Amino acid sequence: MKTDALIEICRVGKRFPTAGGYFEALADVDAVIPKGRLTILKGRSGSGKTTLLNIIGALDTPTSGKVLIGGRDVGGFSERERDDLRRMQMGFVFQAVSLIPSLTACQNVEFSLRLAGIRKGRKERVEECLSLVGLANRAKHMPAELSGGEQQRVAIARAIAHRPQILLADEPTAELDSAMAAHITQLLQELTRKEGITVLMTTHDTGLMDAGDMIIELENGRQVGISVKAEEHAGTETPERQTRPEGGGLHG
Ligand SMILES: Nc1ncnc2c1ncn2[C@@H]1O[C@H](COP(=O)(O)OP(=O)(O)O)[C@@H](O)[C@H]1O
Ligand SMILES: [Mg+2]
Repeated sequence: MKTDALIEICRVGKRFPTAGGYFEALADVDAVIPKGRLTILKGRSGSGKTTLLNIIGALDTPTSGKVLIGGRDVGGFSERERDDLRRMQMGFVFQAVSLIPSLTACQNVEFSLRLAGIRKGRKERVEECLSLVGLANRAKHMPAELSGGEQQRVAIARAIAHRPQILLADEPTAELDSAMAAHITQLLQELTRKEGITVLMTTHDTGLMDAGDMIIELENGRQVGISVKAEEHAGTETPERQTRPEGGGLHG
C-alpha cells in the first residue's frame, strides 16, 4: 500500500490466564494500518476485536509480538510514555456513549480540550469539531436532549478535538439503528479526509464495510482476511491489494 504506515501490528498474540491454563484471545495478528484512512476491524462477538484495540491503544499489552506506532515499539514505553501517547496522540470512542450529562454538547467537547491541557483557541476548535460532525446547531443542547446518534457524534467530536493522530472506536455504532450506523461510519471516513486522522473502528455489523478503506477480519482471535479498497482519488497511486498467507476477501 502506498499510503504511509502508522500502526504496525506485528504477529500479536494475547493469552488470558484461566483456571485450567489460558485462553488464546489473539493469535499471530499481523497488519499494517495506513495513516489517514478508515480501517475497520470486523468480526463476530468474541473474535478479539476489543482485545486488539486495547493493545493498540496501549491500554493492554500483548503476550507475544509487538505494536509499533509511528515506527516506535509501544512495548518499550514507560507508563508515563504510554499515558502521554493515549492522552496526546489518541482519541477514544466507545459503544456506550459517555457524555457528561450535566454539560451541554459544546461543554462536553471543551472539557476534553481542558483535560488535554489545550488553552488557546478552545472555543473555535469546539465549534469546528461540532461542525465536522454536523451538530453546529446542537451545541447548547444537553445530552438528554439529543438522539443516540447525535450523542455519539458529540462523543466523536470530543474524541478528535485535541487533534490526536489516531481515533480508536470500539463498536461505535452497536447501539444505533442501521441507517444511523451507516451514517456514523461514513462520518468517520470523512474525518480521515478532512482532519487527516487515522481511524480504527471495530464492528460486528457486516453491513458497514463500504466506508472502510481497509478491512481486517478476525475469527476466534485469528486474522482471516485483509482487504484494501482501491484509492478513489485521482492522481494518487492505487494501492495494490495486500496479500497475506491467510488470504480472504472483503466479505469473506
Ligand atoms: N480479561 C480477560 N480474561 C479472560 N478472557 C478474556 C478477557 N478479555 C477478553 N477475553 C476473552 O477473549 C475473547 C475475545 O474478547 P473480545 O476482544 O472482547 O472480543 P470482541 O470485542 O470481538 O467481542 C472472548 O472470548 C473473551 O471472553
Ligand atoms: Mg468488543
